[in-house]
Amino acid sequence: MKIQGKPYHTIWISPDNDQVIQIIDQRYLPHKLVIENLATSRQVATAIRDMHLRGAPLIGAAAAYGMYLACLEAPNNFLFDDYIQKTAIILKKSRPTAVDLQWAVDQQMYIISKTETPDLKIKAALEQAHSIKQVSIDGCRKIGEHGLTIIEKIAAQKSGEPVHILTHCNAGWLACVDYGTATAPIYLAHDKGIPVHVWVDETRPRNQGARLTAFELLQHGVPHTVITDNVGGHLMQHGMVDMVLVGTDRTTRTGDVANKIGTYLKALAAKDNHIPFYVGLPSSTIDWSIRDGLTEIPIEERSADEVKYIAGLHQKEMKKVLLTPKKSPAANYAFDVTPARLVTGLITERGICKANETSILELFPEQRSN
Ligand code: MRU
Repeated sequence: MKIQGKPYHTIWISPDNDQVIQIIDQRYLPHKLVIENLATSRQVATAIRDMHLRGAPLIGAAAAYGMYLACLEAPNNFLFDDYIQKTAIILKKSRPTAVDLQWAVDQQMYIISKTETPDLKIKAALEQAHSIKQVSIDGCRKIGEHGLTIIEKIAAQKSGEPVHILTHCNAGWLACVDYGTATAPIYLAHDKGIPVHVWVDETRPRNQGARLTAFELLQHGVPHTVITDNVGGHLMQHGMVDMVLVGTDRTTRTGDVANKIGTYLKALAAKDNHIPFYVGLPSSTIDWSIRDGLTEIPIEERSADEVKYIAGLHQKEMKKVLLTPKKSPAANYAFDVTPARLVTGLITERGICKANETSILELFPEQRSN
């Protein structure tokens, strides 16, 4: 996707040094475009933990490159494997909810363990990181193509009026490598000339909607309106939302969906108002080992300061200000689980299915035995 007309991915190898990863540091968006160099696996882990980059598919791709850097750093002797294993644990622990992160590190561990010499391991880890990145790009494009059919059907009933889509958090290209998951169908519909308008939940406390989704949509020229997190129910009651479309950080094989905190409330409101609630996801986001989202998906709890303080641009500088009484405690649960019964459908790279095990396995039959 483009920023000021220039195409970007969210992560790439530095053109000047193939031992350095470059990312868009999302902490400064939408006000500043800052490119950060990550030269060590520890720097990658910090960038993931402190959310210089975020979003399930992107932290998976970043962790894959982190494992490549670990191969470069590892001592060229019998301690190589030990270093790789320790780094894998550090990267996996950097954020707990998104399963893409664990998946990407496991993929890298496998290829590294199957390759003979340190030089070959470095090469294999880099190639696989590139491949994970490319699979994410291709998968998001496919999610876009499948999701577009839903938007087209709704548009056909609206006689040229815009299709109003409500989204939560940022499941856009900044959360992936390109296109996004929830946003991919929106971009494709917009590019095809279908009138769309997006209600963008601000998504407290880190405001990924207000800062990142709004930025993306603006860059791409998609009509949108930023709303506070509590507005969605009101809009739905008044016929102002045609569909809800969100991403996910971890989906059970039975179709429960963990996404940014507040998603569940949107799903409840959508159900009450008979509005379709869709989730866009690459299959790397499905945790095939679990069935019950409520008890089995680890929910990240982040610093109370993210709730107590708010950051923004003041006189051209990024400033952080205190919002709450200094001594009031705050709780910061970062994700919630939307049960499958509230989900109209899952839009995957292989097609759209219902949020239940039978329907999911029809698209992914190779997972039946897992
Ligand atoms: O805490 P974040 O910003 O990493 O949370 C991201 C989300 O909740 C996204 O909706 C999810 O990762 C899907 S990304 C395509």
